[in-house]
Amino acid sequence: MALPAILEEMRRPVEVALEGILEISTAPKALREAMAWSLLDGGKRLRPLLVLATRRLFLDGLDAMPAACALEMIHTYSLIHDDLPAMDDDDLRRGRPTCHRRFGEAMAILAGDALLTEAFLVLARAYGGQDDETGISVIAEIARAAGPAGMVGGQVLDIEATGKDLSMAELEELHRCKTGALIRAAVRVGALLGRAEPPVLHRLTRCAERLGLAFQVVDDVLDATSTAEVLGKTPGKDLAQGKTTMVTLLGIEGARRKAASLVDEALRDLDDFDSRADPLRAIAALFVQRAS
Ligand code: IPE
Ligand code: IPE
Ligand code: MG
Ligand code: MG
Ligand code: MG
Repeated sequence: MALPAILEEMRRPVEVALEGILEISTAPKALREAMAWSLLDGGKRLRPLLVLATRRLFLDGLDAMPAACALEMIHTYSLIHDDLPAMDDDDLRRGRPTCHRRFGEAMAILAGDALLTEAFLVLARAYGGQDDETGISVIAEIARAAGPAGMVGGQVLDIEATGKDLSMAELEELHRCKTGALIRAAVRVGALLGRAEPPVLHRLTRCAERLGLAFQVVDDVLDATSTAEVLGKTPGKDLAQGKTTMVTLLGIEGARRKAASLVDEALRDLDDFDSRADPLRAIAALFVQRAS
């Protein structure tokens, strides 16, 4: 996906930093290959971009790149496991065979495990030595968002809901956990690293919650409307697997409208920020305009 110049400039250092992390991590060759296969080349990097763009709102604070990379590593692990036969059973991810199709199920499970644990090593190295609470609050924020109360819990709700009819409230809760949690954490971590004051953190959190929900609404729309070539993953899976999605509840146009109005509200949460919030605004716009 082509990014606007303002974001492309931020994305390139993320790619370099992710490569650097894999280079210095100690791992058997086969595991490293599987980790690199899924992590490098191909993701849109929206979560790291959110971390970096939010951090830019603040003049002082800590380096956001380690947190940006850690979130992308955790997101990538979630995708590897999401694609496994025991979960969504997908063959295509980021335009290439899924990790388990290429390296086998055992190696894919372990590559996911390795990316998750290595992400916390990256965080501990970068933020563990801080004298104030900032470092530990960032690490806890990411753990909470990734774990049972966040993404992992959301994946469980997703599995339990498969083949059942959900209400809008139930589906929103599922989306908030499985996808919203990491997006919310990306923004909050950027703000925590910038040592945001509580009211600012609160406003950015609300903005991120709207964006997180909008993101999964659009994911559901794209699953129903796009092609494998454009998406880089197999479309039509939600219907085939009997999932309630925003498309089954609202129709394609209704879901599109919902995503657009959530992003409009998220943009309004940024009204009080000056042009320093432009990268964040550009990401928010992408959340509805994206084709993949
Ligand atoms: C896909 O996330 C999975 C969801 C949480 C909906 P992305 O659309 O951000 O996937 P990549 O990282 O660009 O591959
Ligand atoms: C998965 O949601 C979100 C994760 C936590 C990985 P989906 O199952 O809808 O994601 P895609 O469509 O396979 O990317
Ligand atoms: Mg899934
Ligand atoms: Mg899936
Ligand atoms: Mg999907």
